[in-house]
Amino acid sequence: MTHLAPNSPHARDVASVLHPYTHARRHLETGPTIFSEGSGIYIHDDTGRAYMEGASALWCASLGFASERLAKVAYETMRRMGYYHIFRGASNEPAIDLCEKLLAIAPVPMSKVLLQCSGSEANDSALKLVWYHWNAQGRPEKRKIISRKASYHGSTVATICLTGIPDFHKGFGMPFEGFLYADCPHYYRDHEEGETEEQFSQRMADALEEMILREGPDTIGAFWADPIQGGGAGALPPPARYFEKIQAVLRKYDILMVADEVICGFGRTGNMWGSQTCGVVPDIVTCAKALSAAMQPISAVLMNERIFQSVMTQSDRLGSFVHGFTYAGHPVAAAVALETLRIYEEMDLVAHVKALEPIFLRAFGALKDHPLVGDVAGHGLMGGVELVQDKAKRRPFPEGQKIGAKVDAHARERGLILRTTADRVALSPPLIITEEEIVEMAARLRGALDDTFAEIAA
Ligand SMILES: Cc1ncc(COP(=O)(O)O)c(C=O)c1O
Repeated sequence: MTHLAPNSPHARDVASVLHPYTHARRHLETGPTIFSEGSGIYIHDDTGRAYMEGASALWCASLGFASERLAKVAYETMRRMGYYHIFRGASNEPAIDLCEKLLAIAPVPMSKVLLQCSGSEANDSALKLVWYHWNAQGRPEKRKIISRKASYHGSTVATICLTGIPDFHKGFGMPFEGFLYADCPHYYRDHEEGETEEQFSQRMADALEEMILREGPDTIGAFWADPIQGGGAGALPPPARYFEKIQAVLRKYDILMVADEVICGFGRTGNMWGSQTCGVVPDIVTCAKALSAAMQPISAVLMNERIFQSVMTQSDRLGSFVHGFTYAGHPVAAAVALETLRIYEEMDLVAHVKALEPIFLRAFGALKDHPLVGDVAGHGLMGGVELVQDKAKRRPFPEGQKIGAKVDAHARERGLILRTTADRVALSPPLIITEEEIVEMAARLRGALDDTFAEIAA
């Protein structure tokens, strides 16, 4: 860290901050990029350089950066009350209004909402609800959870077990027992010659059924999936009829469906919910991120009447529902989320994203002619660009080549922040993006792909 100016924010950062999902030792050398302000889809670093945000930061800055309107709501709520909890029957109006609103826009009829602070907390709480439900039903052995390889559902002790990425487990001695991972439905990469999307989906459903039978259907509590697979898979839409076929298997063995809408919720996929875009009929929905345009940390678990009835049963047997976080239902966060949902209504969010969808898919779809790109697929304003070494064989680059990281670095040089996995660029720009900005973003990505191609050819 010798090159970092003493007492600069960069030097103070490396001296004091442990950063999530960052190489700790390398960070001591490189130091941070410090971001100081933003407007629209642009975020500015402390040198004044502006970057287009191709991933809405962490898939969350749906309204872009900085908002007078949301700031005023937070300020007013803080002036009036600041904080009170919702434990032991206490409540506040922003929390009530928000829960009511979420029930009104839910993708399927839902009964109650549990407010939390992050996507991880929402999934963690949903997991406890699944176990609570099966205990209430007198079937406590239905404890195992099936999620999918390459899925990301959070970082807490439980949600990292739901997460199907071995690299995120190994340093921690995870996952715990009872977490199973079905195949990631990556049609482009894994389909056999001549196999249609539907046939591929059937193969995924058959493999799931085999797993369930092998483990014992009476031991499986829930299947966990984000409608368009984000994190590890890189914004991967499901193949045709995938969820229809998967859910037919789940229904056969009385297994709950949990839709992780933490990324896909609130217009991202061209409908209010990814479940609507991808044909998911969930028992439980978790959501966060765009719920408050990421301006406040807040998340929610929506549960159907069947789950709520189990909560009631347990109340009769055990007393209180003993679960909750100090900041659950925080009035400031709830008020900001509510105002965010009002903004979505005013801008007719779903129609807006639907109108931009063909422009987005055309602009980025045009990259398919690039020698590094095998496929481009998405819904709404969410999609992935598949990076391949061999287009004809649909073969990815060896992991050691770090192709995604190279594209990412070149994109930064061109003023574009991306979210890349080993071999996919995941796109999820702020939902306020304009047609011209989409075209410009795709041009910058093409430039970064050209730079990467030149680098590996050299
Ligand atoms: C699909 C999905 N679920 C859950 C989470 C965890 O959310 P959080 O980081 O707010 O805990 C994420 C985070 O990116 C996510 O993408």
